[in-house]
Amino acid sequence: MCDSSIPGEDEGALADETYAWIEETLDELDGDVPALLAFHHPPVTLHHPLPDGYRLGDPGRLAALLERRPEIAGIITGHAHSPAATTFAGRPLVVGPGVTWTLRLPWEGEEIADRAAPVGFAFHVLDEDRRLTSHFRVVV
Ligand SMILES: [Fe+2]
Repeated sequence: MCDSSIPGEDEGALADETYAWIEETLDELDGDVPALLAFHHPPVTLHHPLPDGYRLGDPGRLAALLERRPEIAGIITGHAHSPAATTFAGRPLVVGPGVTWTLRLPWEGEEIADRAAPVGFAFHVLDEDRRLTSHFRVVV
C-alpha cells in the first residue's frame, strides 16, 4: 500500500521515494510471489470529469514500473467514489466504491454526489496463480 496523496491537492502522485520503496519491497520477495499494488488515485480516466481531473500523475512512470515488475498482478485504488473495473498497462485495475457518498455518472444525472445511493467496500483476493478476484459489498 502506497500513499499517492499530495498534501493540499486533489490530484495524486507517487513520489520518487515511493517508487524506490515499491522496488525494494518487491526485491525482498521471491519473484514468483504475486503482489497487489494499492494507492488512492486511479492512473486512468474513468469517464467522469471529476475523478478524471484528479488522477494519478505521470501514469507512464507507473506503466514502466509494471513493465519491469511482472510480479505486480494488479492495482487497487479508490478516490472516484464509484466502483469500477478496468485495466492499466495490461493489469487489472479495480476502483473501490465510496464509503461516504457515491459518484453519479454523467448519464445518471446532473448532481455529482448521490448521497442516497448505498456506499460500499470491496474484498480483494489475489491467488497464487496471480488471479485477482474482487468481492463488493454495499452498505445500506
Ligand atoms: Fe480522494
